[in-house]
Amino acid sequence: MCGIVGYVGKKDCSEVLVDALRKLEYRGYDSAGIAVFEDGKIKVAKEKGRLDDLVEKMKREGVPCGHIGVGHTRWATHGVPSATNSHPHAGGDKVTLVHNGIIENYKELKEQLISLGRVFKSETDTEVVAQLLDYNYEGDPIAAIKKTLAQVEGSFALGILFADRQGELYAVRRESPLIVGVGEDETFIASDVPAIIKYTNQYYLLEHDEIALLSENGVSFCDLEGDKIEKELKVADWNQEAAEKGGYEHYMLKEIHEQPTAVKTTITPRISHKLPCLEECGVTAETLKDINQIYIVACGTAMHAGMVGKYVIEKLARVPVVVDIASEFRYREPLINEGDLVIIISQSGETADSLAAMRLAKKMGAKTLAIVNAKGSSIAREADMLIYTHAGPEIAVASTKAYMVQISVMYLLGFLFALAKGKIDEAECMRLTEILTSVPEYLEKTINDVDKDCEDISKHLLEADSLLYIGRGLDYALSMEGSLKLKEISYIHSEAYAAGELKHGTISLITEGMPVIAVATQVSLLDKTISNIKEVKARGAVVILVCDKEIQVDCDVADYIIRIDKIEECLMPMLAAVPLQLLAYYTSVHRGNDVDKPRNLAKSVTVE
Ligand code: M6R
Repeated sequence: MCGIVGYVGKKDCSEVLVDALRKLEYRGYDSAGIAVFEDGKIKVAKEKGRLDDLVEKMKREGVPCGHIGVGHTRWATHGVPSATNSHPHAGGDKVTLVHNGIIENYKELKEQLISLGRVFKSETDTEVVAQLLDYNYEGDPIAAIKKTLAQVEGSFALGILFADRQGELYAVRRESPLIVGVGEDETFIASDVPAIIKYTNQYYLLEHDEIALLSENGVSFCDLEGDKIEKELKVADWNQEAAEKGGYEHYMLKEIHEQPTAVKTTITPRISHKLPCLEECGVTAETLKDINQIYIVACGTAMHAGMVGKYVIEKLARVPVVVDIASEFRYREPLINEGDLVIIISQSGETADSLAAMRLAKKMGAKTLAIVNAKGSSIAREADMLIYTHAGPEIAVASTKAYMVQISVMYLLGFLFALAKGKIDEAECMRLTEILTSVPEYLEKTINDVDKDCEDISKHLLEADSLLYIGRGLDYALSMEGSLKLKEISYIHSEAYAAGELKHGTISLITEGMPVIAVATQVSLLDKTISNIKEVKARGAVVILVCDKEIQVDCDVADYIIRIDKIEECLMPMLAAVPLQLLAYYTSVHRGNDVDKPRNLAKSVTVE
């Protein structure tokens, strides 16, 4: 978690750093800070709260003025959010740095440093690296970095200023992501591309234990021995507009509206001769034919996309699929056999638990397939097979378009699997694929059709303490995501329940006026779902029903009905996701919450 940036160039460094940090606030936003070389000295400004709080503080107390510096936006792990615990941290007189990641052995190191007479100001693990580096520094930055890295354990990306190296900025990483951007007469470091895209789309990906030196002469790379490294310059295929709000009030709303394009861009290149074709991603019919057990491992929304995948793959290809939460999978000694397929789904490609789960699966002899949005991320680089989703940058913490493209890939895989296993013939596979290609158009229409209804209906959720999402089959899989969306941004408790399971306990929660969102798009299960809806309605629930436009339901079944177009039953979650996203969005807006940056959360969870 946390976002780091650095700048070397001719522009006003503080301005560039704050601007770049704004694009990284999705990674953490409980405090922020910058350090800039000003008249030969490192000047630091930091503050608890949002970036704007830092800006206000600098207006009052002075903005560091110079052309070389580093910045940080924090999601607290060690020590409460406070100005003292904010980065940058100085390790003494010699070193000031920013850090993204976790230093696992910080306690031992801190004790050793205290025994050497070092005095700590903050509760952070970061200050331990700063102090250690300061202690190890005897005039040679590379030697000091090497010595320090040999002592620290964990994940980190560091941006470092040495007080006696006024024209230089050093960066190094292990596990945590870091890129080095190259513009005209200026260079940058950043945790992610959106931070620098306004200035340049050209960047290098720093690899583990590589050191970058940024100065007015440009950028150079070396390993821990100081040996020069040549690296490949990459070009980001995003533009600045893609990373900004484009006229929408919130990134989340913009990203909901971007879903039709995101799905189209993701699936179109993967269809050849009217059939799914994932050969370029390393996934062939031959590979799939021999797979008899699949695990889908992920966190949060990505895991919910896996739940949709499970229903689709099991139904069509008749291959068993276990969906696992990555943080459980990695510690429960999973029963993986050589040749099993482990699919890792991740928007960021940097989620610590998902990455660790993938490494474990590889070690146990499984084939790994990553479905990732962020290009060049760790999960993308380490997987045996890789399908990139092309959602573009997702900035809102609440995932919408990333989920949509993840499930679109689940369908492609499901169809291909079923064909490879001989469970459907080519004609059926073509038919399903054709319907999938029509989804972007339906999505566009659905967003417009249901927007107003969702905004109106959301007003009935504002005062709820708790609510339930219910559904059967794929509707249940989708309900999980609907429920997560609502709770993370509205702060209203909710739970998704398999509709048929309610009467085994949970129905006792229903009281007069409690909202229940029922998803009933699976026509084959409709009668059963309607019976379950009647059970909650009879106990006083206010039912909001999401169903297709053709279903006939008695007028007393639901209090509000959101109708969506009817397409192939197994593809209905793609359309039904939209009203669930919009209900969550408008509930959050009407409750006056910070939709894009909900409390206690961060976009990219690179810590356990
Ligand atoms: O980057 P990832 O897809 O690996 O992230 C996994 C979860 O942290 C993420 O999906 C999270 O649940 C969403 N932000 C919720 O909207």
